[in-house]
Amino acid sequence: MRKKVTVVGAGNVGANCALRLAGKELADVVLVDVVDGVPQGKGLDLLESGPVEGYDVNITGANDYGPTANSDIVIITAGFPRTPGMSRDDLLIKNYEVVKTATEQAVKASPNAILILVTNPLDAMCWTALQVSKFPKARVIGMAGVLDTARFRTFIAQELNVSVENVTALVLGGHGDTMVPIARLTSVSGIPLSQLLDQATIDRLVQRARDGGAEIVKYLKTGSAYYAPSSAAVEMAESILKDKKKVLPCAAYLEGEYGIKGLYVGVPVKLGAKGIEKIYEIKLQPDEQAALQKSAAAVQELVDVIKTKM
Ligand code: APR
Repeated sequence: MRKKVTVVGAGNVGANCALRLAGKELADVVLVDVVDGVPQGKGLDLLESGPVEGYDVNITGANDYGPTANSDIVIITAGFPRTPGMSRDDLLIKNYEVVKTATEQAVKASPNAILILVTNPLDAMCWTALQVSKFPKARVIGMAGVLDTARFRTFIAQELNVSVENVTALVLGGHGDTMVPIARLTSVSGIPLSQLLDQATIDRLVQRARDGGAEIVKYLKTGSAYYAPSSAAVEMAESILKDKKKVLPCAAYLEGEYGIKGLYVGVPVKLGAKGIEKIYEIKLQPDEQAALQKSAAAVQELVDVIKTKM
C-alpha cells in the first residue's frame, strides 16, 4: 500500500515539505491549512509539476482532516513564523493554540501516525503535541537538530572550502539561542575540527549556527527560513517511511537521559518505522553538559508557561 503523509500548514515550510516528499516519491501527500483554497491550490500546483519533474504521487489539499485519514506521518508546520527582532520563544502562546488544535484533529484522523513537529518554539510545541495526542513518546518527534546541524555543516564547509558532504556534526539542546553545537564531535572525513580550525574560528562558526535562523529572518524580514527546514523534516520522514534507521539529532522526550526529565530536548536518536527507536546518551564533557542543562532550563521555562494555559 502507498504511504501517506499529511502536512499541516500549507505555508512556506509546509508547501516545501510537500514538494520534497513528492520529489522523492516518498508518499502521497495531503496538505491541510485553515485558509480556504490555499492547500487545494498549492496541492494541485504541486501535482501538476509531476509530469515534468517525473514524480508520480498524489497531492491534495483540504481545510479539514477527512482526507488525511490513516496517514503514516503527520508533519505539523502550522503556525506563525518569526519576523525580525523576534525570538522563536516570542511565538509561544499563538503557536501553542495552533499546534494544540492541529494535533487534536490530526490524531483523531490518524491514530497510528508518527508526528513530526516543525512549528516553533519547537521543543515546547513537541511537548504540547505529546500531551494532546497522548501518543507514545516514540511517535512524537521534533525537527531541530537536523536543521541546526545542516547549518553548522554548511558554515564549516564554507570556511574550509571542502565538500559539505564530508562534514559531520552534532548539535544538541533546545532549538533556540541556547542550542549546543558539539564541536568536539564534529569532523571532516574523520579529521577532528580542532585539527583543521583554531578555537576562535570554531567559536565564530558555532555562534553563527546558533544564530542561523535569525540570520535568515533578518534577510527575509516577513518570515523565517523554509528551504532548509523542509529538507530537514523530509530527511526525518524518509528515514521513518523507509525504516532506514538513520541516526539524526532530533527533539526527543527525555525521561532521565542526560539528567533531563519530562522535556523535549535535541539529542541523537535512531529514526525508523517505529519512530524514535533509540535515544543515544553520549558521554559529554562537563562544559557541554552544563550548556545542555542551560538549554533544557530555557525549554522548561516555556513549558511552564504552557502548563498555565492548559
Ligand atoms: N491549522 C492549519 N494551518 C494553520 C493553522 C491551523 N490551526 N493556523 C495557521 N495555519 C497555517 C497558516 O494559514 C499558514 O498557511 O500555517 C501556515 C504557516 O505558514 P507560514 O506563515 O508561511 O509560516 P512558515 O514559514 O511555513 O513557518 C511555519 O514553522 O519553522 C517554523 O517558526 C516557523 O512556527 C513557524 C512554522
